Amino acid sequence: MTTCDYRPGLEGVPATQSSISYVDGKEGILEYRGIRIGDIAQHSSFLETAYLLIWGGLPTHHELQAFEHQVQYHRRLKYRIRDMMKCFPESGHPMDALQACAAALGLFHSRRALEDPTYVQDAVVRLIAKIPTMVAAFALMRKGNDPVQPRDDLSYAANFLYMLNEQEPDPLAARIFDVCLILHAEHTINASTFSAMVTASTLTDPYAVVASAVGTLAGPLHGGANEEVIAMLKEIGSVENVRPYIDARIANKEKIMGFGHRVYKVKDPRAETLQRLAEQLFDKEGRDAYYDIALELELVVKEKLGHKGIYPNVDFYSGLVYRKLGIPTDLFTPIFAIARVAGWLAHWKEQIGKNRIFRPTQIYEGPHDQRYVPLENRLQLWEKQP
Ligand code: SDX
Repeated sequence: MTTCDYRPGLEGVPATQSSISYVDGKEGILEYRGIRIGDIAQHSSFLETAYLLIWGGLPTHHELQAFEHQVQYHRRLKYRIRDMMKCFPESGHPMDALQACAAALGLFHSRRALEDPTYVQDAVVRLIAKIPTMVAAFALMRKGNDPVQPRDDLSYAANFLYMLNEQEPDPLAARIFDVCLILHAEHTINASTFSAMVTASTLTDPYAVVASAVGTLAGPLHGGANEEVIAMLKEIGSVENVRPYIDARIANKEKIMGFGHRVYKVKDPRAETLQRLAEQLFDKEGRDAYYDIALELELVVKEKLGHKGIYPNVDFYSGLVYRKLGIPTDLFTPIFAIARVAGWLAHWKEQIGKNRIFRPTQIYEGPHDQRYVPLENRLQLWEKQP
């Protein structure tokens, strides 16, 4: 084996061999199990997509029904998880609450039988079923309200919106939300998926795998950017302010949220679809004032940074869709997690099927053979300085 150069952020370094998804960053192509994302978004549902990603092929009618039924059956939370959530500070971020709840689920299912297909199946179903309920429950409980119980007659997407808003969504809202989940379900070896794979490679339980991935997704350079985009649109405030805002950020070498991608050097195909979904909602419910600012932002960033391949990513337009669906801004990243759990679990399953623990190397840059200085002889930091 040859030694390779150090690449910050492991840019371009393959971390695994996978057949789950494929991205062509120059052409703007994304496929799940070889099927174009546009076709899946048009014809599929989130649960069918999750099945495709995790089990490797599209389900038959019977398989899909069985999977949907199992997920529906496991949607409710254990009362002890709800009791635990009551102790969370209401000002805490919902991603932190979700990470704690995902990890806590592992306390109830501590058997670790990765070689048992029933154990794997049960863990997949439980995590996909319960994560939306956790997100919706925390959203209500932090306001002092009781969580809304899931409704068996509603689809996965419609049920989440129902649990969150305490009213049944209209079919268009439910369908658009379902498509959002499909678009966010998987994206090769992004930071949170890599985190999931590293955790999985120790052969720990899947609840720990998902909890570590949730923590990774939360950061503003990854899934947390969708929340930051709305804060940025608010700060800009008007179409006229876009150009000076961008000029100042570029001059200060600051990143523009919702733009840029390690892999895509064109507009993210998911951003294209999300923009169309936002427009569908605006046609029905009225235009969001932030949309004109967003359009101008896209134009100005393209003009100033397009030559570097900086275009809108998945996080740029998703928030405008969620706002129109009445979703609070700090739930945008937890919603990303509701979707991405499908991708994390697909990679967990793939990883444990051919496992070798992740253990890369480093290039040591520190000193050697240093003298151990007894405590009483050590100088304070400021005493060492000239
Ligand atoms: C997601 O990997 C995935 O697949 C992730 C994801 C998924 O589905 O899982 O697609 C979801 O995480 C989307 C990304 C959300 N993050 C943001 O929107 C935050 C803003 N974007 C960036 O910080 C950045 O573009 C990243 C983090 C997304 C990518 O970082 P890279 O690949 O390490 O790129 P970089 O920071 O090294 O930038 C390379 C160049 C730099 O210029 P130079 O110093 O070479 O002149 O591009 C510039 C950067 O300054 N640049 C930006 C920019 N992003 C990159 N300049 C201004 N604004 C930006 N947003």
